[in-house]
Amino acid sequence: MTQASLFRDEQTAEARVTSVDPLPFNRVRDRSLDFRDIRASSGVHGIHPYPAMLHFLVVRKLIEDYSHEGATVMDPFMGSGVTAVECLGRGRNYAGFDINPLAVLISKVRTTAIPSAPLQKVLSEIAHRYEDANASPVSFHNIRYWFHDDVIQKLSALREAVGQVEDEDMRRFFSVAFSETVRRVSRTRYNEFKLLRRKNDAHNLSVMKTFRDVSLKNMATLGEFYRNNPPTTAEMLLEERNIVGGIPMGDGTVDLVVTSPPYGDSRTTVAYGQFSRLSLMWLGREERVDRTSLGSKPRSITQDLPSEVLDDFVERIAAKDDKRAKEVFSFYFDLHQAVRIIARKVRPGGHVCIVVGNRRVKGIQLPTDKICADFFESEGFAHIKTSVRAISNKRMPTENSPSNVAGQKDVTMRYEYVVILRKCPPQP
Ligand SMILES: C[S@@+](CC[C@H](N)C(=O)[O-])C[C@H]1O[C@@H](n2cnc3c(N)ncnc32)[C@H](O)[C@@H]1O
Repeated sequence: MTQASLFRDEQTAEARVTSVDPLPFNRVRDRSLDFRDIRASSGVHGIHPYPAMLHFLVVRKLIEDYSHEGATVMDPFMGSGVTAVECLGRGRNYAGFDINPLAVLISKVRTTAIPSAPLQKVLSEIAHRYEDANASPVSFHNIRYWFHDDVIQKLSALREAVGQVEDEDMRRFFSVAFSETVRRVSRTRYNEFKLLRRKNDAHNLSVMKTFRDVSLKNMATLGEFYRNNPPTTAEMLLEERNIVGGIPMGDGTVDLVVTSPPYGDSRTTVAYGQFSRLSLMWLGREERVDRTSLGSKPRSITQDLPSEVLDDFVERIAAKDDKRAKEVFSFYFDLHQAVRIIARKVRPGGHVCIVVGNRRVKGIQLPTDKICADFFESEGFAHIKTSVRAISNKRMPTENSPSNVAGQKDVTMRYEYVVILRKCPPQP
């Protein structure tokens, strides 16, 4: 069996792990990381959906294994803030960045413990203002394709009422409930991470009732979560930022990185921008995520990146489709830039735990775990191991169309790879 065919699908993977052959690329199948019966969206992680969330129990284990209380943990691809929540609960100082304003908003709300009583009071004030509001209807490109006219009117009134909440933390809390309401009352398919119009209309859902239900659910979740997991006094920095342009932390100041980058370019994998677009438009934010995230700029293929495996795979894809090979290369080019920036921030002896999915393109599974390990090794890290865990309940595609032919589906990403590296001391 060639290395490339390992973990081609679930059956192959299961067959491999029970075989006596060692896995390639320093991989070890670790069933203790599967957490099959515990949903990734449990507790506070269920506040607002987000694609491809890390499993909080995986993050918790990594934080406990590779850092101590008072350490500084960084997540440069923060998403919905799973690592942030775990750091807050375990006394680790935290710095997280994301290019997507919706991700930053959700992360801030999930990491801000607010008691229910003042939130209840503000919810009643919002409901009163909503009744009296005379807001001009919000308008943006294609709004009437996604929303009924009467829903537009009601959401506009609600948006104005939420925007008038004075306290910043509370305004964020209700903006997240508003964003979830936008998703529910739109014509999009709620459970899809891409923007797709549903067949059955949801316009008969009451805007205010939906908002109230979501707000009450989130209040109860937040209240219960922080009663059971009291926040520590950890320092928390959560910032909107394209990290390829730099990270505002001193070199060598980070003890541990726990992160999960995008799996590929947003056109053919998870489109974070598309997922967030309607919410961001309603929140008055421009959506530029898919145009600026990793792999969005086309690059010419070179052999300059420090991964022979990558060269080999790009060549194999190019033999089938030159354009797709360029797209794949462009993504890894940007990922390499990001790795160089992240690597500098880690102190010697510090660790990086990077969680990736190995997607397939043109029927070829790309070993992103190995490519990441190569990139970090070229920045002075030692690859300790790659733990392989089975994914369940993740909000991400289980099928894609790697051939880019409509209707042709392929199984993708049933396993997740947790790549663990340690930064070596500087050479004398
Ligand atoms: C796999 S998701 C992270 C999910 C996160 N670990 C969680 O549990 O919710 C990858 C994230 O990277 C962000 N991203 C993509 N390109 C970025 C960039 N250049 N700088 C910062 N964030 C970026 C996306 O917006 C997305 O939220």
